[in-house]
Amino acid sequence: TTVEWEAESYDMGGHDTYMHKEIHEQVDAVDRVLRGRIDDRFSTVRLGGLNLDAREARGVRRVKILGCGSAYHTGLIGAQLIEELARIPADAEPASEFRYRNPVVDPDTLYIAVSQSGETYDTLAAVQELKRKGARVLGVVNVVGSAIARETDGGVYVHAGPEVCVVSTKCFTNTAVAFALLALHLGRIRDLSVADGKRIIAGLRKLPEQISEVLRGEEEIKKLAAEYANAKSMMFVGRVRGYPVAREASLKLKEVSYVHAEAYPASELKHGPLALIEPEVPTVAVLPDDDLLEKNRATLEEIKARSGRILAVAHQEQEKADHTIVVPRNEVELDPILMGIPLQLLAYHTALALGRDIDKPRNLAKSVTVE
Ligand code: AGP
Repeated sequence: TTVEWEAESYDMGGHDTYMHKEIHEQVDAVDRVLRGRIDDRFSTVRLGGLNLDAREARGVRRVKILGCGSAYHTGLIGAQLIEELARIPADAEPASEFRYRNPVVDPDTLYIAVSQSGETYDTLAAVQELKRKGARVLGVVNVVGSAIARETDGGVYVHAGPEVCVVSTKCFTNTAVAFALLALHLGRIRDLSVADGKRIIAGLRKLPEQISEVLRGEEEIKKLAAEYANAKSMMFVGRVRGYPVAREASLKLKEVSYVHAEAYPASELKHGPLALIEPEVPTVAVLPDDDLLEKNRATLEEIKARSGRILAVAHQEQEKADHTIVVPRNEVELDPILMGIPLQLLAYHTALALGRDIDKPRNLAKSVTVE
């Protein structure tokens, strides 16, 4: 199958690295994933390639999302969105773990494979195993006509455009938006109200401009990166909506800067990782302004009491943090989409400060097509 990207998309367009270029392309990329899909008349979205009619969609009892690395992390965001908007129990699992554990395949579960390349071997093998056992599998894929796109029963294209840097950025964000669309679609077929449908659509429409706003803060993030670049290790924490963002930001930093990083649910810190906190081990805390904000603030106090430095990503300045990156407010369900973006810039500028090979980090390949 021919993959049709516009030739000029590979042009560096004045950027020094593809990673930097792709981070900045997110404004247009998100616009593209939304384009032509919003249906204002019914406060929902139209997803042409889904191949799942309303009756079938109503019969779904559970959703299981499978992917690797960053794709798995978008699956964690996707599962939360589907639970919140469609009230269908949903979870995500690394595709490799799933395929190796002789999974119980349930006919009422909708399986979703997520992949930028559409060629990741473990994800493809999970799809093939599911198909062999008679499951219905959808794809959330970027590369049109890729192996996973072909083997799934239908799905949602992510339309991020070509992603060249080994480290995923724009595709991560666009996949999260694609999951928001899918969750809204499933929600509106079930019990999500017109008012909530309208609210989410308005939030989605705001995203491109809000991403521009986050990107305009790059100089400040560059300074913060210089300040934290010599950390011995970094902790990333968040609760519920903030947690997948913390997971992805930790992976991003490790991959591109080689700084060791760990991600934990903020509530798990006191069950062990708090022992690591010291001035040389700063914490990045993702604190959306949702009903968990007070709990998250208490976590900041616990870290401060152990003389840990804190960089917060939040909707307002955090008193307990040493620094706060303030991101614009949107609908709470969509918070993970915007909150990940400044942390992509943090990973990028940390890697730059440390002189890393940003587009081709050591030991990694863009797409892992072997077992
Ligand atoms: C992302 O920054 C990574 N390089 C990696 O985790 C990647 O997301 C993973 O290998 C899955 O790739 P895919 O989306 O092409 O399937």
